[in-house]
Amino acid sequence: MELLKNHMVVSISLFLVTILLSCFNLLGSATASPVIRRNDTDQQALLEFKAKITGDQLKVMDSWNSSILFCHWYGVTCGRKHQRVTKLELQLLKLSGSLWPYIGNLSFLRELNLVGNNFYNHIPQEIGRLRRLEILQLTNNSISGEIPSNLSACSKLTVVRIRGNELTGEIPASLSFLSNLKVLYLFNNSLTGSIPPAFGNLSSLEEY
Ligand SMILES: *[C@@H]1O[C@H](CO)[C@@H](O)[C@H](O)[C@H]1NC(C)=O
Ligand SMILES: *[C@@H]1O[C@H](CO)[C@@H](O)[C@H](O)[C@H]1NC(C)=O
Ligand SMILES: *[C@@H]1O[C@H](CO)[C@@H](O)[C@H](O)[C@H]1NC(C)=O
Ligand SMILES: *[C@@H]1O[C@H](CO)[C@@H](O)[C@H](O)[C@H]1NC(C)=O
Ligand SMILES: *[C@@H]1O[C@H](CO)[C@@H](O)[C@H](O)[C@H]1NC(C)=O
Ligand SMILES: *[C@@H]1O[C@H](CO)[C@@H](O)[C@H](O)[C@H]1NC(C)=O
Ligand SMILES: *[C@@H]1O[C@H](CO)[C@@H](O)[C@H](O)[C@H]1NC(C)=O
Repeated sequence: MELLKNHMVVSISLFLVTILLSCFNLLGSATASPVIRRNDTDQQALLEFKAKITGDQLKVMDSWNSSILFCHWYGVTCGRKHQRVTKLELQLLKLSGSLWPYIGNLSFLRELNLVGNNFYNHIPQEIGRLRRLEILQLTNNSISGEIPSNLSACSKLTVVRIRGNELTGEIPASLSFLSNLKVLYLFNNSLTGSIPPAFGNLSSLEEY
């Protein structure tokens, strides 16, 4: 009887140890998996951007290859906590290409600067999906088409510089919803019509 009792204690202890060990195992594998979860959406969007580049005489885009993480590609800045693109700065690099709808997938983008290149085609409506966008600079390119009305969804915009392009059509009245807008540069385009009256309500607007 005494023997059986001892045996039971040993069995129960072993059982507990096994449970404890499996708990540690679980913890172990949880900490072993990467803390930063990679989101391939941004990389995909950047690769689509690269695919739309038709001229790159300075070979800037050569650095955009899989040998390094996209956060370290030329002109790309990622946030410190997440590996998400926060800035795309490719000014004065003699780049030719068209803007691409995939830009709308860079959902953490705060600044887009393509000043002084030869980007052409229209600004895609998908730009309206960039809810964190604060600075949009496309000055001195060959961008045509109309200013997308969806730009009004980028409510954090403070600076929009699109002068020196080939934009046509009217300035969308919906842009007056951009209550944080401070600078709006649209000179030297082929825009028609006048500044929509609603713009009078942009109290913080300094120049256009
Ligand atoms: C990656 O980011 C996109 C856009 O922000 C989001 O829709 C998607 O759920 C994310 N995927 C993962 C695995 O976090
Ligand atoms: C890939 O990018 C790295 C870093 O910018 C660069 O040194 C390397 O030459 C590139 N590779 C190719 C094949 O272009
Ligand atoms: C990214 O954007 C494109 C074009 O707007 C879309 O077709 C695609 O499904 C989006 N999502 C991902 C995860 O790339
Ligand atoms: C433009 O904005 C409208 C209204 O928010 C939305 O329904 C539509 O999907 C947007 N277009 C694109 C291409 O993102
Ligand atoms: C755009 O081009 C004009 C005319 O060449 C030039 O005066 C201006 O400095 C340029 N602006 C930027 C921001 O590069
Ligand atoms: C207007 O923009 C074009 C190129 O986009 C540039 O060549 C021209 O100098 C600009 N004109 C003025 C007055 O800024
Ligand atoms: C400007 O704002 C005032 C008060 O919010 C509003 O009554 C008026 O209709 C607005 N004007 C325009 C042109 O949107």
